[in-house]
Amino acid sequence: MKAKGRVKKFGDETVRILLTRARIQKRIREMGKQIRKDFAGEPLLLVGVLKGAVLFLADLAREIGGEVTFDFIAVSSYGKDTKSSGQVKLNKDLDAGIEGKTVIVVEDILDTGVTLKYLLNVLQQRKPKHLRVAVLLDKPERRIAAVKADYTGFSIPNEFVVGYGLDYAERYRNLPDVAILSLPAEKQ
Ligand code: IMP
Ligand code: MG
Repeated sequence: MKAKGRVKKFGDETVRILLTRARIQKRIREMGKQIRKDFAGEPLLLVGVLKGAVLFLADLAREIGGEVTFDFIAVSSYGKDTKSSGQVKLNKDLDAGIEGKTVIVVEDILDTGVTLKYLLNVLQQRKPKHLRVAVLLDKPERRIAAVKADYTGFSIPNEFVVGYGLDYAERYRNLPDVAILSLPAEKQ
């Protein structure tokens, strides 16, 4: 039986909570501690992938402690669809160079892996000292590109999710929980 309050209707779209905000925060606290432990005393540059990773980066950064800076990069691969186009385009580059820096790419979700593989190739060419990846969500079933995250919040089933930064056609990013989105047949 589904608990009340876990399912919400937005017009003809339905969202069902998969990960509550409390669970997300608890996991991010653990990830922040782990990252700081792995790079004790080192300045870290968090590279957030716009826009989905913004909320995750904001929370993760506060759990890492020590010297942390941010930069942002924007790529597009999905468009308005719930299915990947397989094409990646760099829409906004970093503000500064990363040579010699310890960089953690912060991404909302690892799906086919096409986006992250492209990003890691671009960033690796700039000679960072270390290049690591932190993702909040991973859908391992959908992987096409050979890429792995160093820090993963949650492995989730192959469902389209929204909330906590993740969108459907730019909407739902402000949901505090991660939820499974169901669309009516004509929108699929
Ligand atoms: P990938 O290149 O297939 O790994 O896709 C990564 C990007 O697709 C993510 O950064 C998201 O923007 C988007 N994406 C993949 N799965 C979902 C989902 O379930 N909900 C919302 N966005 C998703
Ligand atoms: Mg994204």
